[in-house]
Amino acid sequence: MALERTFSIIKPDAVAKNVIGAIYNRFESAGLRIVASKMVHLSKEQAEGFYAEHSERPFFGALVSFMTSGPVMVQVLEGENAVLKNREIMGATNPAEALAGTLRADYAASIDENACHGSDAPESAAREIAYFFTAEEVCPRTR
Ligand code: PPS
Repeated sequence: MALERTFSIIKPDAVAKNVIGAIYNRFESAGLRIVASKMVHLSKEQAEGFYAEHSERPFFGALVSFMTSGPVMVQVLEGENAVLKNREIMGATNPAEALAGTLRADYAASIDENACHGSDAPESAAREIAYFFTAEEVCPRTR
């Protein structure tokens, strides 16, 4: 199986809870490698652009407001089946439906503030990675 990349965000609620390291540990324990990473405080324009596909949804304004309420960690994860693996580690969008032991079950309070984001397909992963990182900022495994 070829290596795959996915894009991940640790959202402002989880950053505020001081669980960045705990979440990185979940990724690494599952065999995913962090190949790019940075902390950013999104502007309104950045958040609106990232979530543009949801701009007509009733929760769009609240989502942008939440995502700009504090810093986030953005990262690129690399590994076998990275997109699906990261979705499994995160759990369901609504933490009330997330399986025990997933990030959202452990760290999310509600569907509005749900701790993390992960790409839903390799195509969206490529687009989302390019939204935050230049090619030079992604450092694949060399040894
Ligand atoms: S859906 O409903 O299946 O289309 O939702 P999804 O594509 O999985 O995710 C939509 C993103 O918006 C965030 N969000 C909400 N979704 C649904 N309902 C409410 N109230 C809501 N509030 C925020 C949700 O967490 C998804 O964000 P990301 O960052 O992609 O996980």
